[in-house]
Amino acid sequence: MAEPMIAQNKPYGIEVESGKDYWWCACGQSVNQPFCDGSHKATEFRPMQYSATKSETVWFCGCKRSGDKPSCDGSHKNV
Ligand code: FES
Ligand code: FES
Repeated sequence: MAEPMIAQNKPYGIEVESGKDYWWCACGQSVNQPFCDGSHKATEFRPMQYSATKSETVWFCGCKRSGDKPSCDGSHKNV
């Protein structure tokens, strides 16, 4: 399996809104990080849905190598 592109080697802190759905970019190629903009179409990657259950800051993975996607789990420290 191909490796996703590293969008940035740290998470994105995003204010999410309760009840809203977000599509996290798994391929790393979106120009609208950390979210999908359709750029994955030429890759084997697909975006991952994140449904916000409360309004808060979510730390979305930017390195695309988290073990707890779409959230950052600190794995970027080893990338
Ligand atoms: Fe990366 Fe859609 S642009 S998953
Ligand atoms: Fe990917 Fe932290 S940014 S694990």
